[in-house]
Amino acid sequence: MNPDQRPKALLRAKISSLGTYVPPRVLTNADLEKMVDTQDAWILERTGIRERHLVDKGVATSDLAVEAARRCLAKRGVSPDEVEAIIIATVTPDMLFPATACLVQNKLGAHHAWGFDLSAACCGFVYALQVGTKLIETGAHKKVLVIGADVMSSIIDYTDRSTCIIFGDGAGAVLLEPAAEGETGMIDFMHEVDGSGGEFLYMPGGGSLHPPSAETVAQKMHYVHQDGQAVYKFAVRKMSEVTENLLARNGVEGKDLGAFIPHQANRRIIVSTAERLGMDSSRVIINIDRFGNTTAGTIPLAMQTALEDDRLHKGQLVLLASVGAGYTVGACLLRWEM
Ligand code: UT7
Repeated sequence: MNPDQRPKALLRAKISSLGTYVPPRVLTNADLEKMVDTQDAWILERTGIRERHLVDKGVATSDLAVEAARRCLAKRGVSPDEVEAIIIATVTPDMLFPATACLVQNKLGAHHAWGFDLSAACCGFVYALQVGTKLIETGAHKKVLVIGADVMSSIIDYTDRSTCIIFGDGAGAVLLEPAAEGETGMIDFMHEVDGSGGEFLYMPGGGSLHPPSAETVAQKMHYVHQDGQAVYKFAVRKMSEVTENLLARNGVEGKDLGAFIPHQANRRIIVSTAERLGMDSSRVIINIDRFGNTTAGTIPLAMQTALEDDRLHKGQLVLLASVGAGYTVGACLLRWEM
């Protein structure tokens, strides 16, 4: 091609396959009652969580991501060799470097793929989805794996009842490909960052500011620290704002949506957003009771639940939304094409 020429029109991208994986070990609210001063009824009422899956020692984020990716590719009959790029959204990489995407590329045998990690906490999956979508729309690639994966148990203090009840481990992968004639696929994204909220949900130690030392470990700086109330208030306000604005920008109303698939941080945040959108519960996908908050894994895990429950069908308009550490805010409107 002439190097001065560019394709004139953008292509359309679609999610062509989905695969998820959670580790088999389950930690119930009853188990947590034996570990910290908490009650099953409190956890269920305040968060909607009944149980979460956790890895065994030695199992890392790349292991969950590879299993989710294998399932995703197998469903579509695509070989790992055909994958051109891998984007992994995670805040719990196997190690600071190399990127978990490199580890996954190798374990998966995706010999022709490049890739990188994207750090946006609970919004990681929707942010990565936009980046992957652009790689397809511009014609740069035809097969991009977008994976949300986190082993939150690796950074949780299991003596801190305010955080240990919330999080779980899990991963989900989607394959992005060009949409076929007549298909719509990915429609629009709306993302936002408010860095002034960084202090309300963070892991202070282990980075260049506070490199790991006996002191950082003694001060528990390698664990998640959260001001739950502050995050809750921000999340309730922003989930409504971003979803309403994204729908308005596209001339869509809550009644037009086939499914609302939000980040699973707290059942009350989801229900309040759904009410603002005027969506009845049958179209709102909630599986926080089974998996807790798996950070970048929640949305693809919820897509899987929607498929298993026969609540997600080809041609439906679907809204994704998330709010999380950063603060990060993200939403995506798409037409389901599987
Ligand atoms: O995905 C990342 C984004 N994160 C979020 O979206 C999380 C947003 N925040 C939340 O979901 C909620 O704030 C939490 C679930 C974290 C906490 O629920 P809350 O209703 O905001 O509780 P709270 O922190 O206001 O605490 C209320 C009471 C306190 O007792 P007092 O001071 O009223 O006597 C806490 O000490 O509940 C107590 N408490 C607990 N009791 C039993 C806090 N944690 C627990 C617990 N078990 N695990």
